[in-house]
Amino acid sequence: MTDAPAILEVRGMIVRYGAKTILDGVDMTVQQGEIRVILGGSGSGKSTLLKGILGLTDVVGGKATMLGQELTGLSEKARGLLMQRIGVLFQNGALFGSLTVGENIALPLREHRKLPEGAIAELVRMKLAQVDLGHAENLYPSELSGGMRKRAGLARALALDPEILFCDEPSAGLDPLTSAEMDNLILTLRDRLKMTVVIVTHELASIEAIADSLIMVGGGKVIAEGPMAEVRGRGIVAVDEFFARKTKTAAKQEMSVADLFGLTPAKGGA
Ligand SMILES: Nc1ncnc2c1ncn2[C@@H]1O[C@H](COP(=O)(O)OP(=O)(O)OP(=O)(O)O)[C@@H](O)[C@H]1O
Ligand SMILES: [Mg+2]
Repeated sequence: MTDAPAILEVRGMIVRYGAKTILDGVDMTVQQGEIRVILGGSGSGKSTLLKGILGLTDVVGGKATMLGQELTGLSEKARGLLMQRIGVLFQNGALFGSLTVGENIALPLREHRKLPEGAIAELVRMKLAQVDLGHAENLYPSELSGGMRKRAGLARALALDPEILFCDEPSAGLDPLTSAEMDNLILTLRDRLKMTVVIVTHELASIEAIADSLIMVGGGKVIAEGPMAEVRGRGIVAVDEFFARKTKTAAKQEMSVADLFGLTPAKGGA
């Protein structure tokens, strides 16, 4: 995987909101076909990093190169074309409430592909099947569960067959089972379609299941970046604390379930 070409390169990215510097020279390199997880505390600038890359917030310094093109230098038209090669799943799914699920997915296809209606309908059905929502085509977003809404958002992000998929907390607020389904879906996309995935998540189970590599941000800087096992093996305090804290929380929950039933966890047992 390390020999794969870089599909996304961020160099020295600086983002400020008013007097507050959120990103203070962030570098990130993502290789083609990898699943990259962005980690960091709440408010550390993970969503801001995605927005900076996607041109959704002003970047005051640095540059980002994606799919071989430097984003800052692009005309609006070139930028629009590049964005058609990118899929984005926002934190809340961001579906249009007045359109059905099917119409939400048809929207980018109608806008960017000159296709007959029959072909669009066929593609919509394919995308919905991909996220296991074939039955929900005619429902409105308000009629969906949280997990269904995320999958519908994912189907829309996949409408134009993107080469890179960005996801901001795709499993936040989902139950563990639905969250695991989301992980499997993302793994399938990468394995079958060779998609590169950049994903913000706090969910330890997700990280363990899908991450090839991670980047941790904090204090506006990159605390660590690299392949999952390598970064975790470096003895970086913030990284160790993140994984240890999660593990402790899980252990505590197990203990309290055992306490509840008056059980003593078996020594050395799983
Ligand atoms: N549009 C904005 N205007 C002003 N400040 C903003 C704006 N967007 C984000 N911020 C601030 O920038 C900081 C980073 O926000 P960001 O949303 O990137 O954090 P995050 O790491 O994604 O957090 P979370 O894990 O809670 O989603 C926060 O202090 C936030 O208040
Ligand atoms: Mg965020």
